[in-house]
Amino acid sequence: MNRVYIKTYGCQMNERDSEAVAAMLRARGYAIVSHEDEADVVLLNTCSVRDQAEQKAIGKAGQMIKLKRKRPHLLVGIMGCMAQNRGRELLDRLPDLDLLVGTQKFHHVPDHLENIVSAIQAHGPRPSTIVDLEEEAGSQNTIRPHLEGAEDEKKVSAFVSIMQGCNMQCAYCIVPTTRGEERCRPIAAIVEEVVELAARGAKEITLLGQIVNSYGRREVPFVGKISPFVQLLEAVHAVDGVERIRFTSPHPRGFKEDLIEAFGRLPKLGSYVHLPLQSGSDSILKAMNRPYTQEAFRRIVASLRQVVPGLYLSTDIIVGFPGETDEDFEATRAFFEEMAFDQGFIFKYSVRPGTTAAPLGDPIAKEIKEARNQVLLDLLEKQSLRRHTALIGQVEMVLVEAPARRGEGLYMGRTAGYRKVLFPGRERLIGALVPVKITEASASHMMGQLEVSE
Ligand code: SAH
Ligand code: SF4
Ligand code: F3S
Repeated sequence: MNRVYIKTYGCQMNERDSEAVAAMLRARGYAIVSHEDEADVVLLNTCSVRDQAEQKAIGKAGQMIKLKRKRPHLLVGIMGCMAQNRGRELLDRLPDLDLLVGTQKFHHVPDHLENIVSAIQAHGPRPSTIVDLEEEAGSQNTIRPHLEGAEDEKKVSAFVSIMQGCNMQCAYCIVPTTRGEERCRPIAAIVEEVVELAARGAKEITLLGQIVNSYGRREVPFVGKISPFVQLLEAVHAVDGVERIRFTSPHPRGFKEDLIEAFGRLPKLGSYVHLPLQSGSDSILKAMNRPYTQEAFRRIVASLRQVVPGLYLSTDIIVGFPGETDEDFEATRAFFEEMAFDQGFIFKYSVRPGTTAAPLGDPIAKEIKEARNQVLLDLLEKQSLRRHTALIGQVEMVLVEAPARRGEGLYMGRTAGYRKVLFPGRERLIGALVPVKITEASASHMMGQLEVSE
């Protein structure tokens, strides 16, 4: 009963939480396997941000529960955002679920599994579903550094959760419900985790939170004009062995002078920023309850580009928010082009019951959403290709992450602007920063050759 398969839906925060659960389980002697067929326990770490994400996970859970007919000892659990958001209601559809664990309870998963197994061993019949969804004060500190038991997982690039929850109320968004109140981990605990990760070979650290630049707003005092988030960046920057630092997601509202200025003096921040725009139309931004305007966004990006020449900019956009007219969308399209985003995540609006936008329904036709989505995807492809093509012949410092998924002898790494580069390399270059001359470009990545003989 000790082989566990964890399937993760949703954002990097979920990836990170799944890693933490895996590490806790390994420390208790479980084996983490990479396929459900080999597993005694299947855990789905779920997302609620769009309806499709929920449907996928419900479908998968249904399939897994059906498998129990053939494999009666199989245990199936749902963790994370959808467990938190839908709660016991999920049991109406999935009564044979063994475990339902919310976003503040990941650290209880090993105990719950042990309890289920010993109950089965003691009495035979399966106990009823264990449901653990309550809020828990201090839960941001309970997910221990994800390192114990993870000897085999030496990663060049590691995620570090710096906070949980969100206190904003973007009209469309379910995350404040699924993740609860905003609360942060102390700087010292985060740095301790980063030091351990660096000792294990991590070179790139991605700091995760729903709005990272509101980190520590209530708990940590400013030092002069330096906000708690920038203090954290400074502390992580000082860790030996860390070569690059990224963070996701910041909010345009909190993207203040001290953070912009930090890019000028903390070289490990590189030249990549993900800054969610959501819409380029002021009236839609207002309806979304996003407290900034197109002009404010433009100003932030202009200041960033002054400090970071050659900035690579990424964003999130929602198309088809209720009330989005052709003119609103045109404002988004034109601004998307003006900002010349290098990367973007374009989402079709999905009504989330319980959000403040839910009563507005979903008046924009599916075809219109689809068309708007495509317009932005096409633009993105053009912009990305243009930017990559301009690098042909230049030498970029590439952090080598892993063998490429395809291509014998090819390795994958990223530039300081977080662009993907494939090049012929060697196993021992993994984790190194190497100069690569760019030879070919596509919208998704570039090809290159090592510049010096190693
Ligand atoms: N905290 C992050 C976003 C987390 S959710 C931030 O504020 O940037 C990730 C992205 O999903 C959001 O940026 C948004 O673009 C998208 N999203 C959130 N709710 C959505 C919904 N109801 N429909 C479609 N996309 C949505
Ligand atoms: Fe959702 Fe807005 Fe919070 Fe991001 S800032 S998680 S979009 S409510
Ligand atoms: Fe989804 Fe939860 Fe992340 S709703 S986007 S997995 S915070």
